[in-house]
Amino acid sequence: MQSTLFVVPGLIALAGLMTLTGTAESATTAHSRITRKSFGKAPDGHPISLYTLTNAHGMEARITNYGGIVVSLTAPDRNGKFGDVVLGYSTIDGYIKNSPYFGALIGRYGNRIAKGHFTLDGHTYKLAVNNGPNSLHGGKKGFDKVVWQAHEVRARNGVGLALHYLSKDGEEGYPGNLSVDVLYTLTNNNELRIDYKATTDKDTVLNLTNHSYFNLAGQGNGDVLGHLMMINADKFTPIDKTSIPLGDLKPVQVTPFDFRKPTAIGARINEQDQQLKFGTGYDHNFVLNRKGTGLSLAARAYEPKTGRVLEAYTTQPGVQFYTGNFLDGTIKGKGGKVYKQRYAFCLETQHYPDSPNRPDFPTTVLKPGQTYKQTTVYKFSAR
Ligand code: GLA
Repeated sequence: MQSTLFVVPGLIALAGLMTLTGTAESATTAHSRITRKSFGKAPDGHPISLYTLTNAHGMEARITNYGGIVVSLTAPDRNGKFGDVVLGYSTIDGYIKNSPYFGALIGRYGNRIAKGHFTLDGHTYKLAVNNGPNSLHGGKKGFDKVVWQAHEVRARNGVGLALHYLSKDGEEGYPGNLSVDVLYTLTNNNELRIDYKATTDKDTVLNLTNHSYFNLAGQGNGDVLGHLMMINADKFTPIDKTSIPLGDLKPVQVTPFDFRKPTAIGARINEQDQQLKFGTGYDHNFVLNRKGTGLSLAARAYEPKTGRVLEAYTTQPGVQFYTGNFLDGTIKGKGGKVYKQRYAFCLETQHYPDSPNRPDFPTTVLKPGQTYKQTTVYKFSAR
């Protein structure tokens, strides 16, 4: 028995995790299982695995230890029919050659750091500039492109995959040896739960997220403009033309960014609005309405044809709502489906972009002796 791997105050404790080998299945986990097969090789020759997690209701998540990528995720529609609701590739090659972060773990810093530098403790750190003048999603070889150590775990209410990565001091320009643990759990409540944990031996900055591209009508089955979206945010962080926050928290009221009541994603996306123009659609950080530090509802998406509902809960202060603006029909994904603009949305739970250069934003600094802990839950249902 391992002791509790991830305990976030006020949350459902994942106590009682145990390794699969030699573990008798309990009644609640009788039908959940995890299997592993080969998924080819990373560019450096490392063998890569693909894990299939199945819960008691038959919901399935396939996750690879290359980039911690969620390769597929099924969810039932209102008739109980399962469909794959995330974009991606069926082979490792697609992910290696050309992936806009499909399903991947993002680090060390989710979203942008302006001009690719920040100052911490009087020292200026220089990062790879890989997105216009800025650094995006951890640099040239972020956590989406590294091989994670993986082991299978059984949770009390489902099945899990524990991933570990040691990011060396100086990797991609970031300070400190950073030890990162991510636990994916597919619960018997039809949730994909992601627990993040990290420690460092030097002051550093950190902003971990997952970059799944959702389409609740099924991956590749058209655009997401008819999905009704609710985002639990009174404010968002407006951006400049390079997508860096201007610094103010702007009320969403009377803007196309007001998703406090469920609204079709496409209802206002083509309005003449400078912020939508800068983002080529929605590609903005929303400041979540929240109390305390526990899991709280960030967003709810509903797809009227299938009845599928996705709720995102998080301990994070923000969420990047991105509407697949840069998909352009050149990617052929799973099942030969062509992914065009707005064929998916992302809900990247996070700290605000460019926080290392914004002392007024919630801090992303992690110091030795502290433990970074965040949790995000994507919960599926249908109505
Ligand atoms: C995030 C960014 C977008 C884009 C996507 C990946 O959502 O904010 O601008 O880079 O990732 O294409």
